[in-house]
Amino acid sequence: MNSELTDLLAIGIPVTGLGMAALALMIHQELGPFAGLDRAGKWLLSATFGMGLLAFGLKMAVAVAIENGPAPLGESLPLFARPAAASDAEFANPAPPRSARHVWTALPEVAPAPVDNPTTPERVALGRRLFFEKKLSGDGKLACASCHDLFASAGADGRPTAKGIAGQLGTRNTPTVWNAAFQSVLFWDGRAPSLEAQAMGPILNPLEMGLASPAEAERRLNADAAYRTEFQAAFGDAAPISFARIAQAIAAFERTLITPDSPYDRFVRGEARALTRAQLRGMALFETVGCVLCHRGPNFSDASLLGGESARRIFPANATPYETKYGLLNNGERGIWRVASLRNVALTGPWLHNGAVDSLPEVVRIMAGAQLGRSAGLTTWLDEKSALGKVDRSPLGEQEVADLVAFLEALSSDSLRARMQAEKSR
Ligand code: HEC
Ligand code: HEC
Repeated sequence: MNSELTDLLAIGIPVTGLGMAALALMIHQELGPFAGLDRAGKWLLSATFGMGLLAFGLKMAVAVAIENGPAPLGESLPLFARPAAASDAEFANPAPPRSARHVWTALPEVAPAPVDNPTTPERVALGRRLFFEKKLSGDGKLACASCHDLFASAGADGRPTAKGIAGQLGTRNTPTVWNAAFQSVLFWDGRAPSLEAQAMGPILNPLEMGLASPAEAERRLNADAAYRTEFQAAFGDAAPISFARIAQAIAAFERTLITPDSPYDRFVRGEARALTRAQLRGMALFETVGCVLCHRGPNFSDASLLGGESARRIFPANATPYETKYGLLNNGERGIWRVASLRNVALTGPWLHNGAVDSLPEVVRIMAGAQLGRSAGLTTWLDEKSALGKVDRSPLGEQEVADLVAFLEALSSDSLRARMQAEKSR
C-alpha cells in the first residue's frame, strides 16, 4: 500500500465514522418521528443510507489513490527491447555517470601502445608506407588510404558506405582512422580488440581489399627489396616479413594519427577564448542533456583506452520515427554498437553505422530521442529511488540542437580542418 493511501485512510475512516453518527442521529431524532417509523424501520433506514455513505467514501479513496500513485512503469520508461546478445552491463543503458560532476579533459599528445609493439620511428615509417600500399589488395588498386583518405576526407571517405574492390559497396560507413588509437575496441560494433587485430581485417575482406591470403601479402612484400630492408629496420631480425608484422607496423603508424589540437582541447588546457559563446552553451548542454553518459572522456567515447567503461550500447535504445526513416534497425532488431568517438565528427559525415544521415543537426536530434528519450514531447513523473522526480522528455529545441552542433564543431582539429580545406580548394 502506498503512503498516500495510508494517509487517506487515516483521515477517511474518522470522517466516515462521524458522518455515519450524524446520519443515525438525524434519522432517529428528525426523519424517523416525522415519517412515523418504528424502531426497526429507523435502523433499517440508517443502515441503507450508511452503506451508501461508506461506498462513496471508498470510491473517493480509490480515485485519489489512482490519481496520486506512481505512474505505471511500462508507460513512463523508454521502450527497451533487449537484444539476445546484450550483457547486463550493456543493458544498463545509459550507465550512471561515474561522478555527479563531469570532468572535461584534453586529449593526450601521445597515444598508448602495447608493450609488444612500441611506436618506434622505424615502425611508423614502414606503417605509413603500408597504409598507402596498393599491393595489399587483390587487384592492386586499393590501399587503406583509398577509403581512409587522411586529409581530403579527414581519415574517412565521405561516402554513406564504403566502396571496396571492383566497386563493391559495403554495408557500413567508413569511420575515421584519426584518434582510433585511443579506442579500446574497433569497428562500429567493437568486434576488433586492437589496431593490430583490426588491420588484418580489411586486407583479406573480399568486399574491401580482397587479398587471397596472408601468405600472398607476405609474398608480394618480400619480392620488394626496399620492404625487406624496412621490415628489418623496424623489427630487427633476419626473417622479418610476416602478416602479423604488417599489421603491427600499420598500427604503429595509426598511433601517430591523433589530433589533440581542437578548440575544445585548447579551451580545456586554459585558453579561455578558444570557444565561441554557442560552443560554450553547447558544451554545457552536452553535459546537462546527458550526452556525456556515453560520449565521455577525452576521446568522447566510453569505448576508450583512456578510462572507458561501457564500450557498447544499444542503439537506437528508444523507439522513435527515426529508426524506420534511416533504417537504423537490423531486421527489426535494435543493434549493439560501440559508442562512437566524436572527435572530428563534424568533418566525417555522413554519419552513423550505416551512413544514412547526412546532417549533423539531425544526428543530434536522433541521439537525443533514441539514446536519451528526448522525443515524447511530454513531462513524466518517475518513481525513482523511492522519491518522485520530474523528467523532461520533450525533444531538444532548435537552438539547443544548434548549440550542440557548434560544440561538436569545436572537437575538430585545427590542423586537420585547415588541411582538408587546402585539399578541397586544390
Ligand atoms: C573499402 C574501404 C576500406 C578499406 C580499403 C579499408 N577500410 Fe578501414 N574501414 C572501412 C570500413 C567500412 C570500416 C568499418 C567496418 C565495420 O565497422 O564493420 C573500417 C574500419 C576501420 C578502422 C576502425 C576505426 C574505428 O574507429 O573503429 C580502422 C582503424 C581501419 N578501418 C583501418 C584500416 C586499415 C589499416 C586499412 C588497410 C589495411 C583499411 N582500414 C582499409 C573501410 C575500409
Ligand atoms: C546511451 C548512449 C549514448 C548517448 C546518451 C548518446 N550517444 Fe551518441 N552515440 C552512441 C552510439 C552507440 C553511437 C553509434 C551509433 C551507430 O552505431 O550508428 C553514437 C553516435 C553518435 C554520433 C555519430 C558519430 C558518427 O561518427 O557517425 C554523434 C554525432 C553523437 N552520437 C552525438 C551525441 C550527442 C550530441 C548526444 C547527446 C544529445 C549523444 N550522442 C548521446 C551512444 C550514445
